[in-house]
Parts: sequence; structure tokens; C-alpha cells
Amino acid sequence: MGCRTAIVGTGSCLPEKILSNSDLEKMVDTSDEWITTRTGIKNRRIAKKGEETSRIGAIAAQRALAMAGVAPEEIGLIIVGTMTCEMTMPSCACLIQKEIGATNAFAFDMNAACSGFLYSLDLADKYIQSTPEMKILVIGSENLSSRTNWQDRNTCVLFGDGAGACVVSGSHEGRGLLASNLFSDGKLWNLLYMESARSMNPDLVRPERNGSYIQMSGKDVFKYAVRAMEDSVLQLLDSQGISADEVSLVVPHQANIRIINSLTERLGISSEKIYINIHKYGNTSAASVAIAIDEANRAGLLKDDDLLLLCAFGGGFTWGASIIRW
Ligand code: ACO
Repeated sequence: MGCRTAIVGTGSCLPEKILSNSDLEKMVDTSDEWITTRTGIKNRRIAKKGEETSRIGAIAAQRALAMAGVAPEEIGLIIVGTMTCEMTMPSCACLIQKEIGATNAFAFDMNAACSGFLYSLDLADKYIQSTPEMKILVIGSENLSSRTNWQDRNTCVLFGDGAGACVVSGSHEGRGLLASNLFSDGKLWNLLYMESARSMNPDLVRPERNGSYIQMSGKDVFKYAVRAMEDSVLQLLDSQGISADEVSLVVPHQANIRIINSLTERLGISSEKIYINIHKYGNTSAASVAIAIDEANRAGLLKDDDLLLLCAFGGGFTWGASIIRW
């Protein structure tokens, strides 16, 4: 039997501070009722000093290593899906490497916005295919609160901070990642974007641009996200000859409960099979799928040989789906 990339340990780390919808009512013109009905979000976590992107990513990684029974020195590669590290250079992955003592790893970041974890897992699979004995940390870690315009009610109610991690390694037992299908469409970049820090080259400063906050045309993103995630999931299942009924658990990117409900309906999957934690954490971008996998795993929702379906959509646009035999 060929080698597959199996998840052998999971971990997550959420900042302690909870920001509720009623807290937001005091900050912008919004209401718990609006946020809950439009998004499904009730609370989100906000990082404080000492809970930077690399720090919470490192804690999630340590928890995943402990579950896997893998020592940090055994890790050959660290890939971190993120767009909000506290540093642009070095990468979040290098900071995490230092923090956890993964002295034998090489390490880099993957920027695919909210699809960052799926892209990273798919890339890890390519390394495992060529080096099956390799052990890889695949992490999603974000600090969106640092890039949110807290005066903009259109966006500030949506996002939260957090990190999730998986240790993956080669398995010859038929378990692991069966397939992914990933997509991008850069033509639509300006529907959902976040600028870099202001340019230090005066000729390249763009006065019309409006700070390095997350900017979003919510309605357009919503429309594309629903269609793109549904299409990628259906194509993936079709290409693998797997029916929606056979899937044991779906872990979708947690961006909006209405996007998730629409996906559930189109797949015809019962809603008990959809993992949802958006009410607790909001949209944590690349961390969201990884956090949800860890929670589902620790809650005993994933049994050997179960089919786990992941899907995500984010800025770029980037999107895709993955199917895993647990
Ligand atoms: N509280 C109260 N009213 C609000 C708020 C708020 N927080 N935000 C917007 N409104 C108002 C708007 O101003 C608008 O008022 P108007 O009609 O007077 O102009 C009204 O509510 C309706 O706004 P819409 O944008 O039409 O609301 P919609 O139903 O589309 O919901 C939302 C907005 C929740 C942002 C939705 O469009 C959405 O979830 N979009 C997708 C986001 C997403 O999936 N992102 C995924 C990727 S994220 C990433 O990659 C980082």
C-alpha cells in the first residue's frame, strides 16, 4: 500500500480574553441580535501581550507533539499558515521552531489567508510522499485583532485570534490525506484584502489606501464563498468516488454560519455531522480548521477510518477542500 499523510497529533491554543457581542455593542453601532443572526458569532478571543501569533502557535504545536508522542527534535519541517505574524521577517515558522526547540526542522510560512491550513497540509503531503519517514508540524496561527479596524462594524465583529496544529507523518495503513483540490483567483483580490505595512519608499506610498486593516466587500465575498466551497467539495468527493453519506465529519472554515448552513444543505449532509465552533471564536482565518480538528479530536468525534472532510475559503481568493481517512 502506498504512503499517506496521517494526522498523528493535534493541538490548539486560544487566548484567554473573551470579547462578546455585548462588549462590541459598547464599541460600535451593532447588536448581539444582528451579529448572531447574520454570522452565528457570539464570542471571539483577543490576544494580549505574551499571546503573539508565534507564541500561541508554539503552544498549539507543543500540545500536538505531546499527543503524538513526538519530540521537537524529530520534526523535519514546520509550515505555518498565517497572514498576521508579529514579524514579517523572520517567518512565524522560524519563531515557533525556536520556541519549541525543533532544532532539526526547516521552517516557512504559507500565506493563503483563510485557506492557509488546507494549503499547508497539502504541501506537507507532497514532502511526505518523497520522504515518508519525515514528521511535519502543520500549523495555522492568526492574530486578526491586530489587523482589525475597531471602528468598522462591517468587519470588527467577525474576527478572532487563535492557533491550531497537527503533527503529520507517513502511514502505510491506508489512513491519511486521500486528496485535496485547491484553487485561487487573484482577479478578485480587492473584494477581501489587507495591505502590508506602509511603504518606506515615498514613491510607492498610496495615499488612497486606507491603513493595513482587513477590508472586505462582505456581500460579494459571501456569494463567492458559498459557491466556491460547495463546488470544490462536490468535485473532490466525485473525483474520489465518495458519497456525501460516507463522510463522518465535515470541518468547514468558520467564517459565517449561513455559509456553513448553505454548504450543509447542498451536500445533503445531516447537520450533526458538521463541526461548528464559530459561536465561540469567530473567524480565526488559517487557524480555524486546525482548531476545529483539534476540538473534534479531543471530544472523541473522530474514530479510526472515519472520513473527515475539510473545506475553506479566504482572501486571494483562495479556496479548496480535502478528504482524510482518519
Ligand atoms: N451591526 C449592525 N449592522 C451592520 C453591521 C454590524 N456589525 N455590519 C454591517 N451592518 C449593516 C450594514 O451597514 C448594512 O446597512 P445598510 O443596509 O444600512 O447599508 C446592513 O447591515 C446589511 O449589510 P450587509 O453587508 O448587506 O449584510 P450581510 O447580510 O451581507 O452580512 C456579513 C454581512 C456578515 C459580513 C456577510 O456578508 C459575510 O459573512 N460575508 C462573508 C465573510 C466571509 O465569509 N469571509 C470569508 C473569508 S474571511 C478571510 O479570508 C479573512
